[in-house]
Amino acid sequence: MRREAIILAGGSGTRAGGEMPKQFVELLGIPMLWWSVRAFHAYDPSTAITIVMHPGFFDLWDILYARLPETDRRIPVRLVCGGRDRSHSVENGLMGIENLQDALVAVHDAARPLLSRDLVARCWEIAGQKGSAVPCCPEVNSLRRVSDGGTVPMDRDGILVVQTPQVFRGDWLEDAYRRRQSDAAFTDDASLVQAAGYPVTVCDGDPANIKVTTPVDFTIATALMQAVFKH
Ligand code: CTP
Ligand code: MG
Repeated sequence: MRREAIILAGGSGTRAGGEMPKQFVELLGIPMLWWSVRAFHAYDPSTAITIVMHPGFFDLWDILYARLPETDRRIPVRLVCGGRDRSHSVENGLMGIENLQDALVAVHDAARPLLSRDLVARCWEIAGQKGSAVPCCPEVNSLRRVSDGGTVPMDRDGILVVQTPQVFRGDWLEDAYRRRQSDAAFTDDASLVQAAGYPVTVCDGDPANIKVTTPVDFTIATALMQAVFKH
């Protein structure tokens, strides 16, 4: 099966603040979104890579792209326009891919720049066998749920935190998006695929694969990068 990776960089990064959306901020001199491009390409250079971003940032991206090392600029990538929310961005990414029935599709948040080659390998491999692969980690915090103006403790046992990349057979993902009710709220693709009746296979995530969400996460991501990637 062909490998198609969709890197979602179409958000506005409101919680992270800053002058430009978080996915464009350079970490160790490389724009955040490009770390994910590198991870997919390093595992399999034949992977077709689509980056989804808002057209309003195409000019900024031209400037950042021109500053990338030449070896990086040799990696072929396709740019697609972002949608009004995450799921519409995924849909736009899917629309640019032909013959989805012959492909495995990885959907990955550009906000997770600490994507390792091992995690990429695991997700492709398991999705190749089972049709889907959704990386998850056990919750480590104690949990409380807000309820009736107070809070009640929640059992942490069996709670999994979901990451990306989430990999699916292209025909499953295409069908799930085709049948989606546009007003239904799904925060990830696994929920949508499962609601369409396809099996979702969970695999081991990576605790280092954090999502940069708030300002402190830039510091954490940079520290992890220095320790993990040693570029
Ligand atoms: N995303 C996207 N298109 C959108 C919204 C989000 O491609 N219309 C992407 C983001 O760029 C990010 C990923 O989805 O890589 C996960 O979303 P999140 O972490 O919530 O990022 P933002 O929506 O940009 O941040 P915020 O919610 O704080 O505004
Ligand atoms: Mg968001």
